[in-house]
This record gives sequence, structure tokens and C-alpha cells, in this order.
Amino acid sequence: MLSKRLCHLLLAALVPALLAADPPWIVRSQTGMVAADSPEASQVGAEILEQGGNAFDAAIATSFALAVARPESTGLGGGGFMLAYLAKERRFVALDFREMAPAAATRARYEKLTTGAGDGPPPSIYGGNAVGIPGQLAGLVEIQRRFATKPLAELVEPAIRLAETGFTVDEHLQRACREALADYTNWPQLKERHAQLYESLLGSGEPAKPGDKLKRPDLAKALTLIAEQGPDVFYRGPIAAAIVRAVRIAGGEMMMIDLEGYRVREREPLRATYGGYEIVTMPPPSSGGVCLLETLNILSLVRERIQYPPGWRGSGYPRNLIQALKHAFADRARWLGDPDFASLPVQRLTSRAYAEELLARNAVTPDDFGSTQLPDDRGTSHFCVADKDGNVVALTETINGVFGSLVIAEPYGIPLNNQMDDFTTSAGKPNLFGLIQGEANAVGPAKRPLSSMTPTIVLKDNRPALVLGASGGPRIITSVLQVLLNVIEFDMSMEEAMTAVRLHHQWKPDEVYFDREPPAELAEWLKNAKPACKISTQRKTGVVQAIQFLDDGTFVGASDPRRGGRPAAPAR
Ligand code: DON
Repeated sequence: MLSKRLCHLLLAALVPALLAADPPWIVRSQTGMVAADSPEASQVGAEILEQGGNAFDAAIATSFALAVARPESTGLGGGGFMLAYLAKERRFVALDFREMAPAAATRARYEKLTTGAGDGPPPSIYGGNAVGIPGQLAGLVEIQRRFATKPLAELVEPAIRLAETGFTVDEHLQRACREALADYTNWPQLKERHAQLYESLLGSGEPAKPGDKLKRPDLAKALTLIAEQGPDVFYRGPIAAAIVRAVRIAGGEMMMIDLEGYRVREREPLRATYGGYEIVTMPPPSSGGVCLLETLNILSLVRERIQYPPGWRGSGYPRNLIQALKHAFADRARWLGDPDFASLPVQRLTSRAYAEELLARNAVTPDDFGSTQLPDDRGTSHFCVADKDGNVVALTETINGVFGSLVIAEPYGIPLNNQMDDFTTSAGKPNLFGLIQGEANAVGPAKRPLSSMTPTIVLKDNRPALVLGASGGPRIITSVLQVLLNVIEFDMSMEEAMTAVRLHHQWKPDEVYFDREPPAELAEWLKNAKPACKISTQRKTGVVQAIQFLDDGTFVGASDPRRGGRPAAPAR
């Protein structure tokens, strides 16, 4: 028999070795976790936890840090959604700080703009008409007011420091800059129209390299104003004036009153069960939760009838997954939009009875409009936070495309979103993400464009078991879905769940996308399935950040290796 002391010694030697087996993008802790897609932003959040802040304090600080370190994806010029679990009250809260369309954003205006654009840069993607009223800061301020323990100024401070001393450029930012520069080459008029972005973050054609430190003194100025004077500087004061000026110079029609009128909305989270788990997720104006639950309901019925073996092979799972996704994305296009402007059949779409109906019908209109070039995953950022008291935050934020509309609010260095492209601005035409959108999502003053962002919390026995979300346009939904199923259906570890091959289907075009060359057997099987599946040669998926909660109290944080983030945990 080994003595107790020897056992302890052995354990002490073994445990670090076992932990070291995790890749660097997975972190374990007993004290809390922040999993963002930027190592520096995760670190900022973890330090706030270490200083006694709760998950909401950490989420706010992480978000401000992302505004500095992920200019290609997010920031004060964008908007987002937060889904959170308040441990003490055992309840969920969903906040919607999505952009709103300015008063001048009529359907007629966009029809005219689109028709007039010819082969030039699409007006819902580039320039002033692409910009929705940013909700990001209003959202963070609302989170601070209702759930935080620290003052706003204290939570902005680390981001100011990061902007002044410089954040570390990574491959993701470099690639994003190259993509934006390709647009500048494609449409030379962009160089004149969007010179600020070109000369600053795009380095006049020579973007910063991975490892370089990039300072953002102009953004530091804006953050300092916010810390010292509060959000009014952004929605009524000098930053509001700068945003309006920038949008108007770039051809848009935003007014001060648009910014003054911006409001955060609280929404009722969507809930459903899958196996022994409860899934809590984001309702409209995101389509993410509806599509996630609709797909899970169909798969859940299939699951009750067959048992999936782990992995892909011969299981029927991928075929069922694709079929379920087609239904969900077809319904997304047909029914979903801003719930404040139309009554949406959310309850029906997320009911088991409807899933039964779809399963019986099975065939989805195989309508096709050919192949589309999907954009790369750049303009969004998702992070998760969990604290030692059991609070959990899932927050997805976005400026939509790479560097949003390419419009910068000067002299504050704030890239403004191009979220107007998430509306149906041109009936029947695919948007930036190849999505066909419907009447319920038609552009209109004060409306919020339909989103795919899917911050989600999974419960087991009424306790959080997993929190996750993603970036990647419509691939957010499919990435969240598959990582979630990998964990709860296929019992994979976080590492396996995140690195497993992923597919994406969004109904139109009628093609399945993989994140890498699909296993030969699976490809063959899909080609011969009925109806047959066309496999795209494009390799695309989303970027997921997640935290798993193990029964022994361990938080397992994971930042998708596809983007280069790292989770961080408080030291105590
Ligand atoms: O809200 C949406 O669904 C889109 N604006 C998200 C765009 C996106 O994820 C871009 N890629 N990272």
C-alpha cells in the first residue's frame, strides 16, 4: 500500500503533467474563467475577476479591451447580445444592444441606392448607408448599471492602457487587413472615400505584422472621455457628433437624434430540452436561438429513434444535421426579423410539434441560386465569462464585416459597423453572407436587423454545464450547434469538440461547406445520399469560445484555435 504522503507526492507530480497535456488554447481553473478570441482581452477580464469583480465586471472590461485589440471585428461602433445566468437569483437575462436603423433608413432609400450602385461597392456594405446606430456602449453601460460591482471608469481603465501602450497584432488582424486591402484594390474609389482606415489600421497598404505592438491613441481619447464623463459623450456629446459627421461625409443619413434615441432592450431567452439538458439561448432579433432550437428539436426526435455512434461514419447524423439545418435556415428567411415590428411565430418554430411536422415532411424546397463566395470570419467576436459565485456571461458583439463599413469616426479611431447589410435591403438578393432574407427583415427606420449571433448556456440538473457562442455570420449557428452536440451528445472533451470537423449548410445555396477536406467516406456518402448533397470547395466555419463546467468545480475555458485567442483564469 502506498502511504498517503506518497500518494500526494505522486499526484502533485502527475497533475501538472496531465494539465500540461492541454493545448494552450484550453485553460483549466477552479476560480473563474474568461474565454475570448484575444489573449490580451481574456487577461484583462481575468484580472478584474482577480480583483474581486464578478462575471459582469469582467465581461465589461473584456469587451472594452476587445474594442482595442480586435478593431477588425468589434468595438464601440458595433452592437451585440448578452445572455447571462445570475446564480443567486437562478435566472437568465438576455440583453439586446443590437444596432438600430436610423430614421432615414427607408426601404425606398435602399432600393434606390442599390439600383444606383451598379458594379460599385454595395451601399449596404461600404460607406455611410451601411452604418446602423451603434448599441455596444449602451449595452455595456446597462450591464454595469444592473449587474456589476465596479464603477464603469474602473472597467474601462485597462482598455485605455492597452490602447496607449499598444496591443499585440496577430495573424487574424493581419489577414483581415489584407482582405480589406483587396477590397481597396477591387474598388479604387474606396481609397479616397475611406482614407482614414487606409492610413491608420491598414498601414497605407503595409499592415502591421504579427507580434508588432499597435497603439490606438485616438481610441484611448474616446475611452478616456467615456470613463470621465459617462456614455452621454457617445450618444449626445462630441463622439455622437463625430459619428454623425463621419456617416454623413460617407454618404449616409444619420442624425444626433438617432443616437440620442438608441435604447437597449431586454428579451425573454428561448429554452428547450435536448436529452437530459436544457438549452437557453438568444431570441429575435437574433435568428440564432430559433435556428439552434429548431435544429436540435428535429435531431432530438431522430435521436429518440436511432442511436448515433460517435463520429461521422455511417451514422446518418450528418445527413440529418444537414436536413434539419435546411429547414431552420428556410424558416429563418421566411419568418424572422425584429420582434418589435412584427409578430414572429417563434413559439411554433421552436416547438416539438413543429419538429415532428418537419421530420414527416422532410423535403425542403431544393431551390438554388448557385454558388456564392462566402466572406471570411472576421467582423464579430464572442467571449464567455464565469465567476466563482456561479454567474455566467455569454456575449457576442459585432461590427459585421471586416472593419465594418470602412467608415471611421474621427478623431476617435472608432470603426463603424455595416450592420445595415443584415437587413433585407434588396429583395431576393443574397447578403454579404450569402443569406436570402425575407419580408419580416425588411429595412425600416428604428428597426433592428436580423442576426445569427447565438450566445447560449446549457444546463444539466439546473446548473450550467456549458456556455458558448461564436463569430462567423450564419456559420455562428452551425458552429455553436456542432460544438454543443459534440459535448452533450458525443461526450467529447473540449479539445475534441472544438477541433472536430465541422459542416455548414444554410439552405441556400444548396451546398454543404466543411472547415477542411471532409473525410473521404463521408464525402462519398453525402454525394450518394438522397437527396444528394453538393459539397462546396470553400473551407469555412465559425470561431467558437466556450467554457465547460465539470462536476468537480473545474472551469474548462476554450478559445477556438482557428483564431488565436487564449482563455485566462484569475490566479485566485
Ligand atoms: O449579426 C450577425 O449575424 C452578423 N452581423 C455577424 C457577422 C459575423 O459574425 C462576421 N464574422 N465574424
